[in-house]
Amino acid sequence: MTKITGSSFDMYDKSEKAAEYRNCVEGVIDSNEVGMLGDYVHHHFTTRLQHSMNVSYYSFTLCRFLGWDYRSAARAGLMHDLYFFDNTSRDENGIKLLKEHPIRALANSENRFKLNDIERDAIVNHMWPCQALHRPRYKESVIVSFSDKLCAVMEATSGSSRLVYNTAGSAINKTTTGVEHICRHTYSSIKSMCKSIAGAIKPKSAYANK
Ligand SMILES: [Fe+2]
Ligand SMILES: [Fe+2]
Repeated sequence: MTKITGSSFDMYDKSEKAAEYRNCVEGVIDSNEVGMLGDYVHHHFTTRLQHSMNVSYYSFTLCRFLGWDYRSAARAGLMHDLYFFDNTSRDENGIKLLKEHPIRALANSENRFKLNDIERDAIVNHMWPCQALHRPRYKESVIVSFSDKLCAVMEATSGSSRLVYNTAGSAINKTTTGVEHICRHTYSSIKSMCKSIAGAIKPKSAYANK
């Protein structure tokens, strides 16, 4: 799988950017664990593997443009949802497993790969500001978190367009419900993230010196 939702980027073409991206994610993107994410539906219309590649690519691109640590961002993007259960799964007490998926993703990633502090922080706090252990400590973590929300919107939009195109008429109600659900959740996440970023820019910011 090489296609990125909303982009014509091909990680296997001959461009310098593609070579750099391949270099960053080597050893992660070709691992069995990341490959297994292709078995899970994510955000209604795509797979967890496609979503992880999207987040990785956009995090890489934004951090590369800003001159930040794009290698850590690309790797963390690929690993941020490295968990192996359906999003609707619950434990024996009826609690949704999804609630703790960033912790599971971090544990799975640490079991398999050698991570640096930025990658750890970006994975475990990628749900910020919706739910996270802490506010992200690194600017690259904020980018991964932002890309996660951005990709959710793009995946929903592109997936719903495809679905409407393919099945038209009777599918419209179902699609609208799916899109509404994701968009409502994602837009409120982005809104609260912007508020939090505005607060974080003040002098107390923990990643101001990064
Ligand atoms: Fe997630
Ligand atoms: Fe995600």
